[in-house]
Amino acid sequence: MDIIQDYRKIIKKNLSNTIDEGYIPELGRHKSGKVREIHFKSDKIGSPIIMIATDRVSSFDHILSRCIPFKGKVLNLFSKWAFANTKDIVDNAMIESPHDNVIIQKRMKKIPFEFVVRGYVWGSMAKDYENGKREFCGIKLSNKLLKYQKLPEPLFTPATKAEQGNHDINVSFEYMAKRIGRKLSSKLKNISIKLFNRASKLAKNKRFIFIDTKYEFGLDSHGKIFLIDEANTPDSSRYCSKDEYEKFIKIEKEMASGKYKNVSELIKQKAKLKIKELSKQFVRDALIKKGFDHDSIGDIPNLTNEDVIEVSYRYITLYEKLTGNKLNFPQTNIRQELLDKLKQENYIKGGVAIIIAGSDSDLPHIKKIQIELDKYDIASIIRICSAHKQPAKCEEIVNKYNQSIEPIVFISVAGGTDALSGVVSYHSVHPVISCPPNAEKYQSCINNPPISSNSLILRPQNVAKHTAKILGHNNPEIKEIINKKKKDKIKKLEEADKQF
Ligand SMILES: Nc1ncnc2c1ncn2[C@@H]1O[C@H](COP(=O)(O)OP(=O)(O)OP(=O)(O)O)[C@@H](O)[C@H]1O
Ligand SMILES: [Mg+2]
Repeated sequence: MDIIQDYRKIIKKNLSNTIDEGYIPELGRHKSGKVREIHFKSDKIGSPIIMIATDRVSSFDHILSRCIPFKGKVLNLFSKWAFANTKDIVDNAMIESPHDNVIIQKRMKKIPFEFVVRGYVWGSMAKDYENGKREFCGIKLSNKLLKYQKLPEPLFTPATKAEQGNHDINVSFEYMAKRIGRKLSSKLKNISIKLFNRASKLAKNKRFIFIDTKYEFGLDSHGKIFLIDEANTPDSSRYCSKDEYEKFIKIEKEMASGKYKNVSELIKQKAKLKIKELSKQFVRDALIKKGFDHDSIGDIPNLTNEDVIEVSYRYITLYEKLTGNKLNFPQTNIRQELLDKLKQENYIKGGVAIIIAGSDSDLPHIKKIQIELDKYDIASIIRICSAHKQPAKCEEIVNKYNQSIEPIVFISVAGGTDALSGVVSYHSVHPVISCPPNAEKYQSCINNPPISSNSLILRPQNVAKHTAKILGHNNPEIKEIINKKKKDKIKKLEEADKQF
């Protein structure tokens, strides 16, 4: 009881201490999944992709507005546990995990299917079954099954991965075989079922039932199969405690009376018989209660604080019970903890200057700025975009960097009428320093209209120092360089003074 209360208290305290976005420009190119933020420097198969598991939750293929404290950490910990326990069945793409929210994997050629394995008549399958459907992904089931019932053997029901906002579509093995080849399909089916059986065994050891799951696979450049993405997490799988599943005996008895059309009818009348699963289903149920389901369109409702605490609690306790490990709760701001760890492990410097220039003809000036930034050990990224010729792209670039969770300073480099400084400083949430290449004609950017908030510094050296002061606020290494430079200069002046 104490642990329950303590955990709920910790979660409550951390309701806003979540990672809702996870774009870190220093890590390279970026794409957002529904739950993960993916960074990569190359398209090459085998090259690293850095995946940050955020605390976002998606349901019915929509991303919800509220985050679930510690969910990202828990998902990664589940995957790491699953990867470590399945290497003998199939290799996985994981390279390392520098922080609980971060998993680095080898980039693979994604196989465009979701490999779903079901051990029980549950979820969408149960709904279809009760509506009279008997054939699932080309497999015929008997008429005698009930919702929640264990299937005679695990069922392989692959689906195609839909674009964001669309639902995945179930497909037959034959369909998959036509698309990616029969031999590969058979191999993947066997691996999926073996993985499912392994997870069932691990769950059984801890008095849990592994109900169903989905896996993703990729191929390396030699065509070797790798397990990718996440595995056996409560986002991708359903679990249930053995004790909870005891209810099924009562359900069978009730159904034998012939009074109910199906199990869902029975549960409508005897709600206590609903078997509570440990998975994302709690989120789905909370939304259904608010009138939103699989077929709804429009805005998805908000979860309440109580809902959020419950989901977090369920994810954490399931993880701890299944693996026997304890979750390390963050002691401070979780975003900062994540950035600090990546910095400590040399993945990032922890702050970045985006030098945005109106033309590549400004490169000599940009290089001068970069050389000065290097002296403060500040990472810099060059972007070329003309505010006159590509206004939409400028806005797009700025909006993308607005998602960054690491601090940014924009350095705007544009000659002539310098529309760039105005556009960038209007749209950006980050500070903007204008450093036009033609220092004698700088007037344009100081005449920007209200709410354009750029500052103007003409010397690259001074731009770098100002950038260092902004980024140094939370960065002791940069602060130290600023102080050292100051001391060195003063020492030099004093020595010069002594000479005269
Ligand atoms: N090792 C890997 N190589 C290539 N792609 C990977 C690898 N691991 C994961 N991915 C891809 O990275 C993305 C992970 O993000 P996330 O889990 O948030 O996405 P999703 O919600 O499953 O689906 P979507 O990508 O459609 O938004 C997925 O598209 C997944 O297929
Ligand atoms: Mg995914």
